[in-house]
Amino acid sequence: MELLPLWLCLGFHFLTLEWRNPSGMATAAYEGGCELADGVADCRGQKLELVPSHLPPYSQMLLLDANPLRTLWNHSLRHYRLLESLSLRSCQLERISCGAFQEQARLRSLALPDNSLSESYRETAAAFRSLRALRTLDLSGNSLTEDMVALMLRNLSSLESVSLARNTVMRLDDSVFEGLGHLRELDLQRNYIFEIEGGAFDGLTELRHLNLAYNNLPCIVDFSLTQLRLLNVSYNVLEWFLASGAEAAFELETLDLSHNQLLFFPLLPQCGKLHTLLLRDNNMGFYGDLYNASSPREMVAQFLLVDGNVTNITTVNLWEEFASSDLAELRFLDMSQNQFQYLPDGFLKKMPSLAHLNLNQNCLVTLHIREHEPPGALKELDLSQNQLSELHLAPGLHGCLRNLRWFNLSSNQLVGVPTGLFADASNITTIDMSHNQISLCPPPADLHRRGPPSCVDFRNVASLRSLSLEGCGLGALQDCSFQGTALTHLDLSGNWGILNGTVTPLRDIAPTLQVLSLRNVGLGSSSTELDFSAFGNLRDLDLSGNSLTNFPRFRGSPALQTLDLRRNSLTALPWRAVSEQLTRSLRTIYLSQNPYDCCGVEGWGSLQHLHTIADLAMVTCNLSSKVIRLMELPGGMPQDCKWERVDMGLLYLVLILPSCLTLLVACTVIFLTFRKPLLQVIKSRCYWSSIY
Ligand SMILES: *[C@@H]1O[C@H](CO)[C@@H](O)[C@H](O)[C@H]1NC(C)=O
Ligand SMILES: *[C@@H]1O[C@H](CO)[C@@H](O)[C@H](O)[C@H]1NC(C)=O
Ligand SMILES: *[C@@H]1O[C@H](CO)[C@@H](O)[C@H](O)[C@H]1NC(C)=O
Ligand SMILES: *[C@@H]1O[C@H](CO)[C@@H](O)[C@H](O)[C@H]1NC(C)=O
Ligand SMILES: *[C@@H]1O[C@H](CO)[C@@H](O)[C@H](O)[C@H]1NC(C)=O
Ligand SMILES: *[C@@H]1O[C@H](CO)[C@@H](O)[C@H](O)[C@H]1NC(C)=O
Ligand SMILES: *[C@@H]1O[C@H](CO)[C@@H](O)[C@H](O)[C@H]1NC(C)=O
Ligand SMILES: *[C@@H]1O[C@H](CO)[C@@H](O)[C@H](O)[C@H]1NC(C)=O
Ligand SMILES: *[C@@H]1O[C@H](CO)[C@@H](O)[C@H](O)[C@H]1NC(C)=O
Ligand SMILES: *[C@@H]1O[C@H](CO)[C@@H](O)[C@H](O)[C@H]1NC(C)=O
Repeated sequence: MELLPLWLCLGFHFLTLEWRNPSGMATAAYEGGCELADGVADCRGQKLELVPSHLPPYSQMLLLDANPLRTLWNHSLRHYRLLESLSLRSCQLERISCGAFQEQARLRSLALPDNSLSESYRETAAAFRSLRALRTLDLSGNSLTEDMVALMLRNLSSLESVSLARNTVMRLDDSVFEGLGHLRELDLQRNYIFEIEGGAFDGLTELRHLNLAYNNLPCIVDFSLTQLRLLNVSYNVLEWFLASGAEAAFELETLDLSHNQLLFFPLLPQCGKLHTLLLRDNNMGFYGDLYNASSPREMVAQFLLVDGNVTNITTVNLWEEFASSDLAELRFLDMSQNQFQYLPDGFLKKMPSLAHLNLNQNCLVTLHIREHEPPGALKELDLSQNQLSELHLAPGLHGCLRNLRWFNLSSNQLVGVPTGLFADASNITTIDMSHNQISLCPPPADLHRRGPPSCVDFRNVASLRSLSLEGCGLGALQDCSFQGTALTHLDLSGNWGILNGTVTPLRDIAPTLQVLSLRNVGLGSSSTELDFSAFGNLRDLDLSGNSLTNFPRFRGSPALQTLDLRRNSLTALPWRAVSEQLTRSLRTIYLSQNPYDCCGVEGWGSLQHLHTIADLAMVTCNLSSKVIRLMELPGGMPQDCKWERVDMGLLYLVLILPSCLTLLVACTVIFLTFRKPLLQVIKSRCYWSSIY
């Protein structure tokens, strides 16, 4: 009985709270959880089961994403006649009543992704009929089949952009997109399309962008969409791509055929504007050497085209087709992750505008750059991860790489490069020669020491800024190896012994260097302290994996921000050195995997305070042969260490005390036993003397 007033009180309290909240929200910008601004009503994620009916009738854009509406009724949108854009993403929509859009004659953009519109698609299709002004329609993620799509899109002739991504479309024929004469953009990615009948896109005369990525298309033959600008067929199972042989002018600019199973270089339109061709991750090669090396031009492929009950055999001369395709505008060519063993004669000649060529992860063994095909426009060339053992430059081809800026030769089997290759590339800024067993040319003064037959010379490559020589098996560095360059990034990691305990061989570039990587180079075996004082602009220094016992000297490198000292032999934390030399700039320091003595880490608190020890959780130290994480170290560490020392003192005491006692007792016993005779001896001596 006495509880009742309390319950009532509580109930009343909650009621007042309930009341207070909506009144607090009823500002100009909110209406029943919807945010209103500039004709936009944003009601996303409000758990609404019905379209709110009290929003301003002049709303132009209505966002209802992530509300459990399930059905759009005839009356749902009746109030909003000026609506131009409606978004209903993830609204669990199964049904759209056929009169739902009756008043929406102005609707231009309708987004319905991630619903279940396949449930009553006929009614939905009927509802779409009244959308006379619709430009953009997003039906992605609705489990729609091609028949449903065909029905839904019928007579929506005003459409300019349609997304049907993530549905269950399998085949396309000429009925699906009938009458969409204004369509410019069509997204069909992530369906199950395995067949496209000839003529399926014929009515789409305005189509510019077509995305067919992530489908199951086995080939594209007789490609004839001349008006298309971008075609994306990546992530299919294409083995062939064949443009129609007609000499029509194609508008195609970007073709993405990456992640397929193409065996041959695609046979592209003869007359084209292609500037980007993406062929990454296929099985392509040139097969001239399989035939007769002297006549790759006779390579012929036969295509068996089965169309209904008619089988047509088309014979294509691969080389002639390639030679006749127009690649004059091509600027970006990605052929990485294929099986190319060589580039045929005249390959680069066809691409006078080529600026970016990626041949990463192929099987190239040699690369010839011949007289008649200097790749003069090339800015970026990636030849990494091949089996290149030779680069050839036709004699007299000086300056053919004058525009080259970025050259990646990483992970090949090169022992050298043609003399002067880099010196001729007068714009080059980045060279990656890591993981090649090269040697650097000795200084010309060393005439008595003839260099190895092939060597690489980086001296006087004035434009060079970034150089990676990681894992090149380089011997001890000569003094002037980088003379005449203004390197800012240098990676010498993994060349054991390259610096022989001192950084003096880098003094030519010390003032310009910003990023220096000296991982695993065997530093620190000598007793001299490394001195980075001359490296005035050094920002980032990696010294991990050496055997440093001392903290290097940094006085005069005010720019250092990141320092990596992992996997060395430091026993004390370098906090004093850091706080004296680097307080101002250093931001991040890596210190783990060093055999610190726990009694030598007093300063870590202040070190941590001043800078970020990026791997603090992994820094450990030894405390009487136990390994302890620095972070788990008990608070008064020095105290513990004193205890350690006291402990040792006690131990010694305990060990020594019994021996001392035993000795003492023994002495006493001996003394007592022999006391008399001793006295007698003394006495007798005295006696004698007295006698004397
Ligand atoms: C919606 O309106 C259409 C006519 O536009 C009508 O045929 C249909 O029965 C109505 N549906 C409902 C559920 O009222
Ligand atoms: C579609 O438009 C055509 C004429 O362009 C017309 O004959 C046909 O009846 C329309 N279909 C529907 C379902 O409105
Ligand atoms: C092609 O589509 C895939 C998947 O959506 C995408 O990752 C890729 O960037 C597209 N290619 C181009 C050239 O737009
Ligand atoms: C290769 O071609 C040459 C002449 O072009 C011919 O003499 C030779 O027999 C051919 N070899 C093969 C294996 O076809
Ligand atoms: C091919 O199919 C058509 C009907 O589609 C038929 O009229 C014709 O006789 C068939 N031809 C052969 C050779 O089977
Ligand atoms: C077969 O090829 C010929 C010539 O290439 C062409 O005229 C004919 O239309 C093709 N037939 C089919 C069914 O593709
Ligand atoms: C560097 O490239 C530009 C064009 O990008 C060219 O005009 C210039 O001559 C090149 N510089 C040298 C030194 O060759
Ligand atoms: C060169 O290529 C390798 C392997 O493809 C890559 O790891 C490296 O980052 C590239 N170098 C540069 C400077 O981009
Ligand atoms: C390495 O340095 C030591 C002296 O520090 C010198 O005796 C030795 O010759 C050097 N080794 C090489 C390969 O330069
Ligand atoms: C710390 O322990 C490691 C291995 O447990 C040992 O190699 C190292 O010498 C020890 N260092 C000190 C300072 O006790």
